[in-house]
Amino acid sequence: MCGIIGYAGNKLAVPIILSGLKRLEYRGYDSSGVAVLEPNGELVIRKGEGKLSQLIAVMGNPGQGTLGIGHTRWATHGKPNEANAHPHTDQHGNIAAVHNGIVENYREIKERLQGQGHHFKSQTDSEVIPHLIQSLMEKGDSFEEAVRKAAAQLHGAHAIVVINAKEPGKIIGVRIGHAGGLVVGYAHGEMYLASDLTAIAPQIKEAAYLHDGEMAVITPASARFVRLDGTPVAKEPQAVTHDPVSAAKGQYRHFMLKEIMEQPETLMSALRDRIDFQSSKVTLPGFPFKQAQIKAIDRAVLLGMGTSLHAAQIGGRMIERLARIPCEVENASEFRYRDAILGPNTLVISVTQSGETVDTLVAMAEAKIKGAPQIAVTNVAGSEATRKADYSLLINAGPEIAVASTKTFIGSVACLYLLGLTLGEMRGILSKESIRQHIDHLVKLPEQLGEVLQLAPQVEMIARDLAKKPNFLILGRGINFPVAMEGALKLKEVSYIHAEGYQAGEMKHGPIALIDEHMPVLAIAPKDRLYDKMMSNIEEVRAREGRLIAIATKGDESIGEKVKDVVFLPEVTELLSPLLTVAPLQLLAYYIAVRRGADVDQPRNLAKTVTVE
Ligand code: AGP
Repeated sequence: MCGIIGYAGNKLAVPIILSGLKRLEYRGYDSSGVAVLEPNGELVIRKGEGKLSQLIAVMGNPGQGTLGIGHTRWATHGKPNEANAHPHTDQHGNIAAVHNGIVENYREIKERLQGQGHHFKSQTDSEVIPHLIQSLMEKGDSFEEAVRKAAAQLHGAHAIVVINAKEPGKIIGVRIGHAGGLVVGYAHGEMYLASDLTAIAPQIKEAAYLHDGEMAVITPASARFVRLDGTPVAKEPQAVTHDPVSAAKGQYRHFMLKEIMEQPETLMSALRDRIDFQSSKVTLPGFPFKQAQIKAIDRAVLLGMGTSLHAAQIGGRMIERLARIPCEVENASEFRYRDAILGPNTLVISVTQSGETVDTLVAMAEAKIKGAPQIAVTNVAGSEATRKADYSLLINAGPEIAVASTKTFIGSVACLYLLGLTLGEMRGILSKESIRQHIDHLVKLPEQLGEVLQLAPQVEMIARDLAKKPNFLILGRGINFPVAMEGALKLKEVSYIHAEGYQAGEMKHGPIALIDEHMPVLAIAPKDRLYDKMMSNIEEVRAREGRLIAIATKGDESIGEKVKDVVFLPEVTELLSPLLTVAPLQLLAYYIAVRRGADVDQPRNLAKTVTVE
């Protein structure tokens, strides 16, 4: 999760940008930088590796500039060093850009521009952005047109903010997809742009959010909005509350919705610094196990509770397929009491977003006594789980405030997939070419998840229809069975609806007796190996007049003829499908909870971290 801030006004820009970056520190980062336009037309850029204090140390004289941009970076392409830190500039050092997202087609753009004589100074994908803008301006486009056209050429999801020394009174921001938001802040005679309202909330009176495919052009006195096709957009800024909790929720009514909508960014954060797109390699920094040790592993045990247990169940299937290690997945509170057989060749992988769940920690302690090598997948650096494990795979999702886990589920599953690829490579199961193909699929995922989240209004309509139902069945098969259970858990937790996640094949063996016209049945039916089987189960529900809803793959017309409400998702590989299929279920639980008037972010009887048995 990179952080972005821009300021155009009449005060010195550097202190304002630095204090905004400070407020974005909670998102985590590995380097930072600012670009400021001095009154003499000079574009001054300063960058620092590591903590913000490094940037402050190299800042020196803050200068006289009253317009500038700043960025905190979490590395995706290229090491976290000064050259790779943002802002990046064009060939002539006139255009400076900061970026959040992954330019999926950056290699192609870079090679094209290199052919035109452009030289690049960093290993980042982001650097192509100012170069592309420059190249379009050299062909006759205005700064604004060039930013708009450049943005339209980038594949993937992005938030971009750009300044140009030749047009000193202007900052341009663009949002494409769900790589994080951009908000325009209004104050008296000054304007702000930021990735996060918290960065600018204390300074502003009103704010307006950019939607997917929109661009903002701000000056100290005004903000103008257009779509990427050039058509103007009218926006009414909303008053900003200075209560820090409301500011942290940004444009969302609840943290749960904010965290669901943040998930494409969560995916990017999980992939950051772990995938080398240039050499198509997955590297888990600091991974301590040697190849011989990994080759000797004869079994993996994955542990977790609640949502983290469901992530572990998906991870177990991924690791089994990618690394051919037999995986057992168990509820940590059961595991700890069964005197399991473990040893140095059993890899124990514990999933716990908080890193403090007592059931999981005690199971880890038990595994330690038995000498099993351990990996923790967690969102909290320095938590007890990280101290117990030999290696911690951090989800890097930023704080999750809603009690119901959503983005940490996505982050955990993405990390487990990377772990599967790493183990598969170390064990000689996956070839370089097959890893390259997995990476190609992975890199598209944040954008595809963004597409799914745009279906929120459809899910809200379905929720309206189902909000009064007391029971719910969710059917899944294979890797989507744990997703069915996660969907059911979300309905229980936040909507207080009795819901069950079932293996679809199990239905005939009992639960089918529950089905009549009052029972909503949601079938997770992506086009995969088990699709035909799931269609038979759908027919069984139809025959008993159950109220069917389906999650299916775009282009599957036949399912639409059988099921009233179908949420269509982009096509994705079977192993990665849970990262998309879970999103409509999270949204469904959220919208039903809102309609039922439940306390969405703090459901009754629940705590975010369960530290007692
Ligand atoms: C999920 O929405 C719940 N908050 C709960 O099931 C949670 O996943 C479980 O308590 C485990 O927590 P952990 O990931 O912090 O270990």
